[in-house]
Amino acid sequence: MKICRSISCLQKELPAAGKREIGFVPTMGALHQGHLSLVRRCREENGLVVVSIFVNPAQFGPTEDLQRYPRDPEKDIAMLENENVDLLFMPDNGEIYPQPYRTYVNVEGLDSGLCGRTRPVHFRGVATVVLKLLNLVRPQRAYFGQKDAQQAMIIRQMVRDLNLPVRIRVMPIVRDGDGLALSSRNAYLSPPERQAALLLPNSLQKAAALVRCGVGESRIIRESMQIELDRDPLLVTEYISIVRLDDLQDIPAVEPGNTLIAAAVRAGRTRLIDNLLLGDLSC
Ligand code: PAJ
Repeated sequence: MKICRSISCLQKELPAAGKREIGFVPTMGALHQGHLSLVRRCREENGLVVVSIFVNPAQFGPTEDLQRYPRDPEKDIAMLENENVDLLFMPDNGEIYPQPYRTYVNVEGLDSGLCGRTRPVHFRGVATVVLKLLNLVRPQRAYFGQKDAQQAMIIRQMVRDLNLPVRIRVMPIVRDGDGLALSSRNAYLSPPERQAALLLPNSLQKAAALVRCGVGESRIIRESMQIELDRDPLLVTEYISIVRLDDLQDIPAVEPGNTLIAAAVRAGRTRLIDNLLLGDLSC
């Protein structure tokens, strides 16, 4: 696996792809099986696999966890070697945001609800860095996780709006054996917080069961999820939202095939998100 830390290295290495199709998986490192599920699908579908690791300062608010975000580059490199990744791009901040840096991408309307409500600059930072990375790597396909469903929808919209020549592939959520969605931030959780965090996937299971039984009213589903999340005082609910998948607007009742049920909680200082899709993000 070739490791590039600079844009000039990337520009030297990428032409070596020749006629091979390029698949790309952007990450912030501290890799786990969720990330690897994207890398594996990317490996299956492309001739050249490029992964990036960049903890993007633009997507962290001033009081968020940029400084303590988990970093383990040696372990990440070994995991990616093991997946036969061809090229790893690991730039530093100066490479991506040379000073003065002034240009940002806003995907209007999709970035204000759900996580955008408490993280006002987050999706601007995500869209900006993903656009820059897509411009640098020029992949035919780029891979994202449904774990961050709002992020995936925002990137899809950006790609459509800006006519970017890339296909966005969204992969299912990978979970631990106990149901907790894998996340680099799970490393922050104390044992009791981790136990409490299981209420998040459990609350989504409750929602799924209600929908299966024909209960579609958003208010009832949200109340049932809230009761589940309130079972442990270590969890503080940030939001429970039931939105239409294509525009992320709140809906009074689930619309089968086009609904995202998403929640965010805090366990101590750790913010966790999870969601359930009644529909399909996979194409
Ligand atoms: P990061 O949190 O490292 O995640 C990288 C990719 O892995 C994202 O597309 C995310 O949705 C996916 N992912 C994370 N946990 C997953 C899980 N349990 N199952 C499946 N996929 C999972 O998301 C980012 O980084 C950044 O915002 C980034 C897109 C790299 C831009 O900086």
